[in-house]
Amino acid sequence: MKVDLPDLAAMEAFGRRIAARLRPGDVVALSGGLGTGKTTLSRAILAALGHEGEVPSPTFTIVETYDNLNPPVAHADFYRLEDSSEAEQLGLDDYREGAVLLAEWPDHAGGFAHEPACLQIALEIAGDGRLAVVEGGSAWLERMP
Ligand SMILES: Nc1ncnc2c1ncn2[C@@H]1O[C@H](COP(=O)(O)OP(=O)(O)O)[C@@H](O)[C@H]1O
Ligand SMILES: [Mg+2]
Repeated sequence: MKVDLPDLAAMEAFGRRIAARLRPGDVVALSGGLGTGKTTLSRAILAALGHEGEVPSPTFTIVETYDNLNPPVAHADFYRLEDSSEAEQLGLDDYREGAVLLAEWPDHAGGFAHEPACLQIALEIAGDGRLAVVEGGSAWLERMP
């Protein structure tokens, strides 16, 4: 499925659509190069779940948690990881317990596409806006339009 995201308002709307469908255990795997909108979409999803205030980019902390949301969210940027063993070392499984994982640079953590609850969103630049190519795992099929 392809979604046109011509501007930030479209990004907000897309974030709301995703947020309304999230369940604990999900991964939203946000791929795409620098500046394609991974953090912007993460912020839109968190805002739609009711988060107020800052959403720091987790580039340096790698994981930021939002435990008071329903469902709780762990927002990760795996750019600085070498491979999935480092993701294990930082306790990713614990962060994911009962939560949704929003994962930027998912391939740097070994990738999540094999998980049934993974929603893959590949972002790319399209003129002044963005294009999202969306593919859901089996646990997403009934949730996609
Ligand atoms: N759909 C969109 N249309 C236009 N600009 C966008 C869109 N989504 C994000 N941007 C802009 O792109 C820039 C980079 O976004 P960011 O989310 O930080 O990218 P990434 O996390 O993928 O590196 C920001 O200035 C943001 O406002
Ligand atoms: Mg980012």
